[in-house]
Amino acid sequence: MGDPLRAMFSLPAFSRVLGCVILLIICHVPAAWGDSVTAKPFGRTARGELVTLHTLTNKNGMSVSIMDYGATIVKILAPDRNGKLGNVVLGFDKFSPYLRATAYFGATVGRYANRIAGGQFRLGNVLYQLPRNDGPNSLHGGFRGFDKRLWKMEPVESDIPAVRFSRLSPDGEEGYPGNLFASVTFSLNDDNELRISYEATTDKLTVINLTNHSYFNLAGRGTILNHVLTLHADAYTPVDARLIPTGEIKPVDGTPFDFLNPTPIGLHLKQAGGKPVGYDHNFVLNKGFFSDWSLAAEVDEPQSGRTLTVSTDQPGVQFYTGNFLDGTLTGSGGNVYRQYDGFVLETQHFPDSPNHDNFPSTLLSPGETYKTSTVFAFGAK
Ligand code: GLA
Repeated sequence: MGDPLRAMFSLPAFSRVLGCVILLIICHVPAAWGDSVTAKPFGRTARGELVTLHTLTNKNGMSVSIMDYGATIVKILAPDRNGKLGNVVLGFDKFSPYLRATAYFGATVGRYANRIAGGQFRLGNVLYQLPRNDGPNSLHGGFRGFDKRLWKMEPVESDIPAVRFSRLSPDGEEGYPGNLFASVTFSLNDDNELRISYEATTDKLTVINLTNHSYFNLAGRGTILNHVLTLHADAYTPVDARLIPTGEIKPVDGTPFDFLNPTPIGLHLKQAGGKPVGYDHNFVLNKGFFSDWSLAAEVDEPQSGRTLTVSTDQPGVQFYTGNFLDGTLTGSGGNVYRQYDGFVLETQHFPDSPNHDNFPSTLLSPGETYKTSTVFAFGAK
């Protein structure tokens, strides 16, 4: 920027003004983004760092807004059956409530999404002790996980609106070994598909499990109990009272966890048990023989006609029905978030995998690249 600026100030006044205007246009819409990625200041962290909200918009007018704090999805405007756009995720209109909220609305969760029993795992001869931020266990990367960090935004060379966030998680951060360099890329195509792609490398053997924690409500408000869900999972991982997997992989057949056919979320929710009652379970996704990529979930909201399908290369999905929401948070559009007002489909490895040899491995070694993608496709019928 230095040289063009110097050159501009040596020009006569009119040319300078014209130069400024051109420069502003260039800075506002970088060439690689096209005109469908915008950025605006959203707030400041407790340390005074500027938080920026980036919005990807496709040619249908659908948009996804993501802030660099927590690489967090703040808003998704998706069309209903009449083409009317509405926000389909829980979040806040301004930044400050994100500093206090504990619900992980829309956040990128890491280094390890979901729970690690006792906050402990062993790699070789070394026992790692993580901070216990969920009773005796570690949840979602600890007290200050990836959701509570400011990520660095990088423009992406892409034909479709896209933005990438990256961060270096230093060795020992929240108890995890290895300098971990992680990035997450969000892109939105003209088929209303939001793709989230993660990459990470480490310089020491570590564990990793990244996911996105968006709460969806395809009606835009109220309960999600009438949303109709299909989960392509023949089995789930039962949990103990503190939501730690017992290690068993149990068929869903004949249980309230059977969503193999379209089922209203509320139909068997009470029988799912738990404290608070509701779904908060990892489902084992059915995979084909040749590829890890699979259709994980389909959701229909009968009133608005909005639909969501989720596809992923991950082995599991944590289906959570917002059981801990209790009406104390007022979010976007003045919506008060009550229990069951949003559902989360966290594509991921199974909770507590580092302590279960029979679960797919979450180890990442130096020289390897962790790579995973999930696509959230929005439709209407
Ligand atoms: C995940 C967990 C839940 C809860 C939420 C955040 O979905 O499985 O138990 O911690 O995150 O409130």
